[in-house]
Amino acid sequence: MASITADVWEGHDYLPRVFDDWLADPGAWFQAAELEGELVGVQRLRPIAAGVAWYEGLRVASSHRRQGLARAMLTAAAAQARGLGFRELRLATANPDAISLFQSAGFRLLVAPRVWRGRRLEGDEPARMPAPGDAGRLLATLQQDPAIAAYGGVLANGEWALDLDAELLRRLADEGALRVTAGGRALAAVRDSWDGDGLWAYFVSGSGAPLQDLLLALRFEADTLGMEGVNLWAPDGHPGEKDFAATGYDSESEPFRISYFALRL
Ligand SMILES: CC(C)(COP(=O)(O)OP(=O)(O)OC[C@H]1O[C@@H](n2cnc3c(N)ncnc32)[C@H](O)[C@@H]1OP(=O)(O)O)[C@@H](O)C(=O)NCCC(=O)NCCS
Repeated sequence: MASITADVWEGHDYLPRVFDDWLADPGAWFQAAELEGELVGVQRLRPIAAGVAWYEGLRVASSHRRQGLARAMLTAAAAQARGLGFRELRLATANPDAISLFQSAGFRLLVAPRVWRGRRLEGDEPARMPAPGDAGRLLATLQQDPAIAAYGGVLANGEWALDLDAELLRRLADEGALRVTAGGRALAAVRDSWDGDGLWAYFVSGSGAPLQDLLLALRFEADTLGMEGVNLWAPDGHPGEKDFAATGYDSESEPFRISYFALRL
């Protein structure tokens, strides 16, 4: 396994951390590729919604790259997902080589948010968490918001990309993953970052004063939690970009970006 992940993300690959759980997970399908007794590739599929599987963990050993292994493994995963009755595969990647692979295999881009970083800020309260019963009303507000189109109609948090609907909002509210200001005119969906040292706002809607209040409240929340700050994920052209900058969020000219793709099976 080490030979497969050593050069991924400068040695910070998450795979070794989750590998044992993945092998033991009865709710997902793990696949390994072997050549002459040597482990040369891994990948897995996991259900994320009715008919939709998440494809993740694709790795090919550096000694065996550029020989068509990833393409063959992806083809096998798609065939397996189809055989299991899934109608769509979705995934996230930040690797340009993998992006070429997925594009050439017919995947369509759902959304490719870049990261904006806001440092923790002392001084005020986190934003309100809506109740699950607010989901219908929040959805009605969101459907009028141009942010939804900017995000390609999905909420995507690195571990899944799901179509926005009332059921998803209800579930996220129930998990305490939503924040709102101005009665829902600005909304954020949040999770902890992969390294646990930041708050990820992987979706934000609204603009102007409601959004600015929300963005500041997220920085307050990071401070309350003892985290370094907030990673705000937003696609280029998000209607609130001016508000991000006005509330202390910065994005590099060549920012880190996660691309989310989907393939109809
Ligand atoms: C990305 C990765 C899985 C590709 O594995 P691979 O077996 O070398 O890929 P393949 O030989 O099957 O190539 C398939 C396609 O991927 C793209 N690709 C792969 N490596 C590439 C590279 N170094 N530069 C440009 N494109 C590349 C090409 O489109 C290629 O098609 P082509 O050979 O017809 O041009 C492998 O490099 C890897 O494990 N990287 C580290 C982990 C990672 O980033 N995984 C993806 C996370 S979702």
